Formats: sequence, C-alpha cells, structure tokens
Amino acid sequence: MPLKRSFFTFRSKVNYQKCFMLSCTILACMVGMIACSAERLKSDAELGLTAQQASGRRVYDAYCIRCHEPYSSKGKQGPSLKGVFKKPYLSESGMPANDERVGEIIRYGRSKMPGYSQALTPQQIDDLMAYLHTL
Ligand code: HEC
Repeated sequence: MPLKRSFFTFRSKVNYQKCFMLSCTILACMVGMIACSAERLKSDAELGLTAQQASGRRVYDAYCIRCHEPYSSKGKQGPSLKGVFKKPYLSESGMPANDERVGEIIRYGRSKMPGYSQALTPQQIDDLMAYLHTL
C-alpha cells in the first residue's frame, strides 16, 4: 500500500508539471491571439480612418479578409497585406507596390485570386485602395 501511494504521488507531481506547462502554453496562445486581433477589433475612429477609408474597410472585410490578413504578417490563402504599400515591391508577385498594379490585381485577379471588376463598383475599389494605404 505505501508503495502504491508513493507511486501515485509521483504521478500526480508529473501531471501537475504537465498541467502547468499546458496552461502556460494555452495562456501564451491566447495572449498572442488577442494581440493579433486587437487591431481588427478596433473601431474605424480608433484606427483614425477617414470616411472613405472606413468604407474601404467594409469592402475589405466582406471580400478580402478571408484570404489576406490586414494587421498581422501571417499568410492565409493569400499573402498578408499588412504594410502592402509601405514596401517598394509586392511580396508574392514581386510587382511594384503602386496603385496601378494593385488596382489591376484587384480588378482582374491573379493565379488563385479571383478578380473583382464585376463584384465591386469603381467607387468601392477606390475606397478599398484608400484603406489598403492605411495598412
Ligand atoms: C480566395 C482567396 C483570395 C481572396 C478572396 C482575395 N485574394 Fe488577393 N490574393 C490571393 C492569392 C492566392 C494571391 C497571390 C497571387 C499570386 O500568386 O501572385 C493574392 C494576391 C493579392 C495581392 C498581391 C500581393 C502580392 O504580394 O503580390 C493583392 C494586393 C491582393 N491579393 C489584394 C486582394 C484584395 C484587395 C482582395 C479583396 C477585394 C483580395 N485580394 C481577395 C487570394 C485571394
């Protein structure tokens, strides 16, 4: 009986350590997730968006966010668009990061990305471009 008991104590100690490490991992993941989605949850005013940029954000959330992260550099089905206009070249295609090229990609699509010239009005695309400049 004492032998069995000490074995049990040993096991519960190991379990406690495992449990602690697991909790730490879960906590770290949660903190990470909250940090990443914090900007996404911010209001237009908190992000300092103009009316046009804010309506571009609506378009983005409806059509683009499922494939492109706006505020984290994590890739989804498509590359992250965080800071898309802040670099001279687009990360995936290597094309110049300017309104002309990005506008073309949005209107006509590229490889697995569909084109949006039918789904979106020229005004919506302009708004979307204005929002992309804020990322
Ligand atoms: C079904 C997923 C999907 C959707 C929805 C989508 N895209 Fe894409 N997008 C992609 C993929 C995949 C690529 C990479 C294409 C390639 O191979 O060059 C891409 C590329 C891009 C690029 C060029 C990035 C680079 O680094 O070359 C831009 C800009 C872009 N998308 C903007 C948008 C915008 C704005 C929307 C919303 C109107 C949108 N995408 C919707 C999948 C998507």
